Amino acid sequence: MKHKQLLDLDSQENQNIGAMEIKENGEEEQQIVNPWKVEAKEGGKIDYDKLIDQFGCQRINQSLVKRVRRLTSRAPHVFLRRDIFFAHRDFNEILDAYERGEKFYLYTGRGPSSEALHLGHLIPFMFTKYLQDAFKVPLVIQLTDDEKCMWKNLTVEESQRLARENAKDIIACGFDITRTFIFSDFDYVGGAFYKNMVKVGKCVTYNKVVGIFGFTGEDHIGKVSFPPVQAVPSFPSSFPHLFSGQDNLRCLIPCAIDQDPYFRMTRDVAPRIGYHKPALIESLFFPALQGETGKMSASDPNSAIYVTDSAKDIKSKINKFAFSGGQDTIEKHRELGADLEVDIPYKYLKFFLDDDIELAYIGKEYGAGRMLTGEVKQRLIQVLTEIVERHRRARAAVTDEMVDAFMAVRPLPNMFD
Ligand code: TRP
Repeated sequence: MKHKQLLDLDSQENQNIGAMEIKENGEEEQQIVNPWKVEAKEGGKIDYDKLIDQFGCQRINQSLVKRVRRLTSRAPHVFLRRDIFFAHRDFNEILDAYERGEKFYLYTGRGPSSEALHLGHLIPFMFTKYLQDAFKVPLVIQLTDDEKCMWKNLTVEESQRLARENAKDIIACGFDITRTFIFSDFDYVGGAFYKNMVKVGKCVTYNKVVGIFGFTGEDHIGKVSFPPVQAVPSFPSSFPHLFSGQDNLRCLIPCAIDQDPYFRMTRDVAPRIGYHKPALIESLFFPALQGETGKMSASDPNSAIYVTDSAKDIKSKINKFAFSGGQDTIEKHRELGADLEVDIPYKYLKFFLDDDIELAYIGKEYGAGRMLTGEVKQRLIQVLTEIVERHRRARAAVTDEMVDAFMAVRPLPNMFD
């Protein structure tokens, strides 16, 4: 009976909405959010409320945040307190289960498309690390080298190389090796994982996948058949060396909201093949330096702060490119104050300045025109330089042996302790 109920929910959850292009009155508007493209309406910002409606997820509210605080007995992560992880699917059910004493596991991933990561790429991993520590649960991290080989036209070898390089950055975020399994699709797909892929594949028609992802007749069949690969880490039986005999274990996926189409599909299929639907906790995009019309792009070096940037790079990029909501002249600024809604230095501080009191102070002073853009940028440069420096040191300490150890197919003893 439970299954019937879940299936009914699916029909709402999984509407066919093209490549997530938002259309009204037959007219095409320009907001596009799918795993391959994030673009706001011309000159505008991403409309996240609209996305929540379109995708059919729920907003994270303060009572949910309070509940997390209570259950984990620690301050919720800045990203949770400040609505950066702002949407979810069934996160409350994960918490219900956790409260009953049931555990769950975390699943996240990365498509290794570039050597150097930018700050936006680190966000899901920083947050996942917090969830792992706070709930003391195991974590699987998928490196979709196959996906990037197909979408970015990289060779198999190059994608595999990038996967290992990116694994170092991920490990540098501080994951606990006794609870974390990192895998590359090229190495790991097969066996029980592949059986689940076939089960998923049988449940998804070509029309459905076109509806969800917007594939066209010109796309090669590698792309069309990829979604099950990203779907099945949501099912514990894909990892017999970790979760054998625990088919009922729930899965929570932290990700940016552009990955939602994959997991809408996964949630649609799950009950039909006898699995729980994975729960999701989804973030906003980290805006480009030039302003909030999309996500930071790895292909435009001036739009992003990379984890490999020097202190000098960071300083000059922020001073030169960070879009300011301040006024043109000091007189006007003193009178009107900064527009915090569009100001990138302030937005970045919201992501990365830990101190709530200082952030509130800056918001108040800057918004009232008593603080100038230059001062806010100055503080941001300090904050980001410190984070990037810390990351650089941590990454330099990650050896090839450590990568091998995280990626070894092995049991994780005591992963729920
Ligand atoms: N497709 C994602 C990317 O391109 C990688 C990915 C695989 C992922 N599995 C995931 C991201 C699960 C978040 C959650 O980056």
